[in-house]
Amino acid sequence: MKKIAVFASGAGSNLKALVDSQKRGDLHVEFVIVVGNNSGAGAFKIAQSNKIETLHISPSHFENIDDYTKTVIAALETRGIELIVLAGYMKMIPLDFIEYYENRIINIHPALLPAFGGQGMYGMNIHRAVIGAGVKIAGVTVHFVNGEYDKGAIIYQEAIAVFDEDTPETLSNRILELEHNTFWRAVKGIVDGTFTLKNGKVFGKISSL
Ligand code: GRF
Repeated sequence: MKKIAVFASGAGSNLKALVDSQKRGDLHVEFVIVVGNNSGAGAFKIAQSNKIETLHISPSHFENIDDYTKTVIAALETRGIELIVLAGYMKMIPLDFIEYYENRIINIHPALLPAFGGQGMYGMNIHRAVIGAGVKIAGVTVHFVNGEYDKGAIIYQEAIAVFDEDTPETLSNRILELEHNTFWRAVKGIVDGTFTLKNGKVFGKISSL
């Protein structure tokens, strides 16, 4: 079974949805460790209640970014981690780390990339921008992580309608629900090898659909 590390800083609802999909038997992976910079994060509580090891580590614990990167890589290597899943991880990922785990880090973004991505596009900023732009379709993107914010190859997307009466809050709630239903499918596609990455693009589709 593929050994997975989940990086999370926040409430951890995506982590919970992933773990639930594994418990249901939809996703055959091992969630080995949850890594986060915020010891009070809901994600840590979810990890603990599911008996998943947690690692509280932040660049601010180190004198320089190289020491931080080496420590995180060592922790993941010791545990045989094969795939890193960013589920609401709010800290920058060092470039050396991204290079080390090239094509083995994925992220979920609550918008249809390449629109509404990039620096500053996180949390409610995204949903405010979507409503502000008056677009009629919003959604979720799961993508590989490369050195540029939200620019890695797109693995999987799902869309929903934006309603006239939507506020950033109502849209954000529906998108989060969609994320919970989407993320594990993308992880499954990667684990099952139904996706291939060629010339910076992902081909293939999700086996369970
Ligand atoms: C999600 O909207 C995710 O797309 C974004 O951060 C949020 C995390 O929510 N990257 P949660 O911590 O999984 O509940």
